[in-house]
Amino acid sequence: PQSGPGDATAVAHPNIALVKYWGKRDEQLVLPRVDSLSMTLDIYPTTTRVRLAPDADHDHVTLGGVPAEGEALRRVVSFLDLVRARAGRPLRAVVDSHNTVPTGAGLASSASGFAALAVAAAAAYGLDLDATAHSRLARRGSGSASRSIFAGFALWHAGPPTATPAQADLGSYAEPVPAPGLDPALVIAVVNAGPKAVSSREAMRRTVDTSPLYEPWALSSRDDLSEMRAALARADLDAVGEIAERNALGMHATMLAARPAVRYLAPATLTVLDSVLQLRRDGVSAYATMDAGPNVKVLCHRADADRVAHTLRGAAPGGPVLVAGPGRGARLLPEDT
Ligand code: PMV
Repeated sequence: PQSGPGDATAVAHPNIALVKYWGKRDEQLVLPRVDSLSMTLDIYPTTTRVRLAPDADHDHVTLGGVPAEGEALRRVVSFLDLVRARAGRPLRAVVDSHNTVPTGAGLASSASGFAALAVAAAAAYGLDLDATAHSRLARRGSGSASRSIFAGFALWHAGPPTATPAQADLGSYAEPVPAPGLDPALVIAVVNAGPKAVSSREAMRRTVDTSPLYEPWALSSRDDLSEMRAALARADLDAVGEIAERNALGMHATMLAARPAVRYLAPATLTVLDSVLQLRRDGVSAYATMDAGPNVKVLCHRADADRVAHTLRGAAPGGPVLVAGPGRGARLLPEDT
């Protein structure tokens, strides 16, 4: 594929947060309550092509070759509306997106999806955006997508709390966080690849509105973030893992205390968590994190990834176990445009 004005193709990878984004302060602008920090993966890419369609009177969107409908279509069209407004060009578009990750299973399909769409749509509509602007734009599709613009570790700033909408929008974007000397892997145990029963959007809303544990978690998450940055800077995988695990368990505690409770953790999730504890007792640095789904991602040294994967396969038989490393940021195809 050639990327240029009118027709552009982009590829992006999912990211997994080590300090979580959970809770919005503005749904319209997708402004989060807390800063978050993630690792972009080198597996499960999404490839998205956007072509302007001068003769069309509505957008044509296919996801994995199947015409999109309902909420999925609505989200893509309203995202394109943002790009059109910014570019001052009302033309409709044809969007073809191919995900290699199961969609809606808490495996960050919306992160890779909206990061790829942001980069491809901006190029197709002739917007000349830098990475920061791509990150802000991707955020509007799905908050976590702001981080998939960048390779490796990325910090998404919540932005200043008491700003005007325009200032708040400008202040909330991701940026890369260097972690020299760290050679990590995330081993992903897919215990259930089916779509979640409660969307992360609805779960966040309910947690912020009703959970008595939400504010304490959001406060402690600030300490987690500053400790995480220090741990990454000194390439201390055990500290990175400990902070990530406690932050994720705390996030799930906020949801369990919501009314009614949101519970993504399944019996198989807990079995995998037990096996992670056992790995640590056996001297392996392995730490778990879970998102809006039952699947478990285990952070470890890359040198230990095969051993960790073997253990997780034993704990979660049936579901695939994949090893991911730090991956590249979102980019246009071909690479040299
Ligand atoms: O970007 P969303 O709306 O899919 O929210 C994702 C939130 C978590 O994955 C649970 C945490 C995170 O920071 O990615």
